[in-house]
Amino acid sequence: MFSVAIDGPAGAGKSSIAKAVAKELGVIYVDTGALYRAIALGCIKMNIPVENETAVSTVLEKIRIELVFVEGTQHVLLNGKDVSEEIRTEKVSMSASTVSGIPQVRAFLLELQRGFAKTQNVIMDGRDIGTVVLPDAQVKIFLTASAQARAMRRTLQLEQKGEPADYEKILEDIIKRDHNDSTREIAPLKPAEDSIIVDTTDLDLEQSVNKIKELIKGRMK
Ligand code: DC
Repeated sequence: MFSVAIDGPAGAGKSSIAKAVAKELGVIYVDTGALYRAIALGCIKMNIPVENETAVSTVLEKIRIELVFVEGTQHVLLNGKDVSEEIRTEKVSMSASTVSGIPQVRAFLLELQRGFAKTQNVIMDGRDIGTVVLPDAQVKIFLTASAQARAMRRTLQLEQKGEPADYEKILEDIIKRDHNDSTREIAPLKPAEDSIIVDTTDLDLEQSVNKIKELIKGRMK
């Protein structure tokens, strides 16, 4: 099996890039952030405070998460219901970052993530794919960009969808989430020693996709 791990902070372009590259290479793209988001949404729905480690760990027994692929696109199911859209709010983003610091949550999701790479070629994105989930991935990329560039991209995305977008607030949230994700004790966001660091601050989507594609093709030979 061939796996590509793409890690990096929120908004570096991981999912858009990984999706495009996976399509071109004909492999599946697994967005692991969706799993943490689904757990956060499950807690919110069941009125479990996401900062309460014991309560979150206990509620995991009542949470069933599945990923299904429809024409190559990932859908995440929470207790049988497709929540792929519902997990994309700012509230869920921040709550996902909080629950992702809980060891029981990470253990709960580990085998599920590894299972995908056992039976098929994958491009998987997240925070700890190269360091923890798939330490033997053939290609490891750490994708980054300045917090300002990432906040600007998110602002434009929301504006394009006709949704309210406050750049300063988005920037503040990005900095807070970076801090949470990279300072947690378990599986913090950091480049694997053997990863290739790619900074997309000055690259557009097409340039980033081309760069990543070349890196992967170079390793596949
Ligand atoms: O990639 P994303 O923004 O959808 O991820 C949501 C949160 O989930 C993120 O703030 C940190 C956490 N996460 C993680 O800890 N490990 C992963 N492999 C993927 C996401």
